[in-house]
Amino acid sequence: MSAQKQVQSRRTAASSRNESINKKRQQKSAPANKSQQSAKPAPKKEAAQQAQKNYVETEETNNLIKRAVRCLTSGYPIHLTGRSGAGKTALALEIAAQKGRPLTVLTGNHEMTNEDLLGGITGVTSTKLVDNYIRQVYKKEVNIKENWTPGRLVEAAEKGHTLIYDEFSRSRPETNNLFLSILEERVIPLYGTKQKKSYVPVHPEFNIIFTSNPIEYAGVFEKQDALMDRLITLEVAFTQKTTEMIIQHKAEVKQKDAKFVWGVLKNLQEEVKEAQGLLSIRSGLMIATIAKQADVAMEKGNEEFTQICQDVLSGEVVRFEGTDTFQKASSLVKRAVENAK
Ligand SMILES: Nc1ncnc2c1ncn2[C@@H]1O[C@H](COP(=O)(O)OP(=O)(O)O)[C@@H](O)[C@H]1O
Ligand SMILES: [Mg+2]
Repeated sequence: MSAQKQVQSRRTAASSRNESINKKRQQKSAPANKSQQSAKPAPKKEAAQQAQKNYVETEETNNLIKRAVRCLTSGYPIHLTGRSGAGKTALALEIAAQKGRPLTVLTGNHEMTNEDLLGGITGVTSTKLVDNYIRQVYKKEVNIKENWTPGRLVEAAEKGHTLIYDEFSRSRPETNNLFLSILEERVIPLYGTKQKKSYVPVHPEFNIIFTSNPIEYAGVFEKQDALMDRLITLEVAFTQKTTEMIIQHKAEVKQKDAKFVWGVLKNLQEEVKEAQGLLSIRSGLMIATIAKQADVAMEKGNEEFTQICQDVLSGEVVRFEGTDTFQKASSLVKRAVENAK
């Protein structure tokens, strides 16, 4: 479709991979047991049935999880939207854990094709039969069979997994069109795959959690209306209170430290309003974790702490076009630390 355009890329396109994550049953306090596989789907007993280790639950996160699970249970796919580092992927994993089905994770990328999702011919097997017994009548038979490997989407849909399609708007709209029949008719069309059957029915328990950044982010395609019409979009934008709790508990720092780190990020966002995207839980966690590990006090006037903030944030300020040089970005970060409370 000609109207579909790619938003100009400001970022380097990170290479995305599609990953299947099997989460084993685990006690909440036990270490996470995550393995990434590309071959076999998760057997049922290894489903994402337990919450992630270290996922910080607050009233706000629990409320959002409850609403999302409610939609999914009624058969409606959900779409988590919010800026980078808002906590979408972590939340999607948590929602999937609540559903208690095996989990498949796809990460959108502009190179993803229908073949990746539906499957394809991955080679041929030839079997040769030579009958040496009857020497005079030398008999040779060769059978050639094309090997069909089903795509990740087909397996997930047939077996009733919960599918997280992370950053789906990084894939081309024409690839994502496939999801229209899945959501509307609950079948996966297999056109163009050389398969005898023309479609695969979708398992009743198959659910999809889409995530995406807002359109103004670089490297994403405009989301097609026909697909968006079929999703229930929930915004992930946690309050300051929840965000500080996530930093405090995940990085295992004091409440006042988490507050101070978030204060730096807020100041910086104020300084460079046009560079939307600086208020990221990810950056806050990086600063708090590095400072804690290095035993650096999180307070103003501490040069080491200022340096950590500059290291984590200067590149982000430049990336989001808050300024054009690292040097200018560094002074902006320094000012944000000095003014933080
Ligand atoms: N409730 C939470 N508890 C613990 N860590 C969280 C929580 N929400 C987000 N995080 C962490 O914050 C960082 C950014 O979250 P992520 O889900 O990757 O953001 P997004 O997908 O929106 O870019 C990750 O390291 C993630 O593990
Ligand atoms: Mg994410």
